[in-house]
Amino acid sequence: MSGLPDTSIDLRLIAMKVGKPTRSNCGVCHFFGGGGNNVKHGDLEKSMFNPTKETDIHMATEGANIQCTDCHKTENHQMLGKIYSLSSMNRNRSTCEQCHTETPHAEDILNEHTLKVSCQTCHIPVYAKVNATKTEWDWSTAGQLKNGKPFEENDEDGNHTYLSIKGSSKWGKNLAPDYIWFDGSADHYLLGDTVTDTSKPIVLNTLNGSYKDRDAKIIPVKIHLAKQP
Ligand code: HEC
Ligand code: HEC
Ligand code: HEC
Ligand code: HEC
Repeated sequence: MSGLPDTSIDLRLIAMKVGKPTRSNCGVCHFFGGGGNNVKHGDLEKSMFNPTKETDIHMATEGANIQCTDCHKTENHQMLGKIYSLSSMNRNRSTCEQCHTETPHAEDILNEHTLKVSCQTCHIPVYAKVNATKTEWDWSTAGQLKNGKPFEENDEDGNHTYLSIKGSSKWGKNLAPDYIWFDGSADHYLLGDTVTDTSKPIVLNTLNGSYKDRDAKIIPVKIHLAKQP
């Protein structure tokens, strides 16, 4: 019967629900990227299905209840918004300015900062506010067994700290971001590239930019550390 839909699925009901995507349509993928809730990003996780204002001023169900696609504007399936670690070019970004303008503050001194300091740097002082995010992943410990069987160990919040198939992990909550200069472009370590300096960690996704670049701004990032083959 391969290829046929499960007989318990009501296709007529599904067809009647065709419409614009809501947070849950995007969240079922993006909140669980990397194999579990909040593993990847730190600020895209299941509490965003129905966040409070303290968690997210924009998406708060009791507030503006903004959907992902209000910011990630889409035209003909071209969606604004880029993943810093994947997108090498500085284009088709989603920005705060598209709603708030470049001068959102009554105070000039704050507006002047936005030339060099991204909005997110001041307005996202901490992330992973509700649930922890994965910060370190050591694959080299994978494969251990207890009584000949794979096992798992969890912290008090139920996050995996060890899984035989995935190795060891560290998690963090209410984390302050790291800050870097970013010009919007990135480089990537690709399979087959030669590693010349083995004395320090390899940066898989290099975000370009420095104090000297005219267009670079300070942005907040989550740095994920890993040991992998
Ligand atoms: C079926 C799973 C799935 C769904 C549903 C989904 N995405 Fe994605 N999205 C992905 C994957 C996979 C990527 C590639 C990046 C990655 O590996 O994390 C991606 C990338 C993105 C990017 C970065 C694009 C780039 O070029 O850098 C944005 C922004 C995004 N998605 C937003 C959304 C929004 C908004 C929705 C809801 C309208 C949505 N996604 C629904 C899986 C999904
Ligand atoms: C208030 C506006 C806003 C809302 C609401 C919003 N985003 Fe974003 N999102 C952004 C901005 C700004 C960026 C940075 C993108 C860029 O520089 O192009 C971003 C980045 C992303 C990225 C890339 C993350 C990374 O690690 O680099 C993904 C994936 C994404 N958003 C998905 C979503 C999903 C899914 C939702 C809904 C649950 C959502 N966003 C809601 C503004 C928003
Ligand atoms: C789709 C339009 C839209 C985008 C894009 C957007 N915002 Fe907002 N923003 C709003 C709305 C609407 C509110 C008011 C929410 C409320 O008060 O319930 C708001 C509220 C805020 C507030 C709180 C203001 C106050 O009076 O306390 C801040 C700070 C803020 N946004 C910053 C940002 C930043 C930073 C970004 C980019 C990551 C961004 N916004 C992107 C629409 C947007
Ligand atoms: C240097 C840090 C800093 C930067 C950069 C910054 N903000 Fe703010 N923002 C603040 C502070 C502080 C306040 C509170 C001002 C007050 O209460 O008088 C604020 C308030 C706001 C408000 C509420 C309106 C108001 O005047 O109180 C919005 C909306 C906002 N910022 C959006 C943004 C956006 C969009 C950007 C990027 C274009 C941005 N901010 C960049 C520090 C910053």
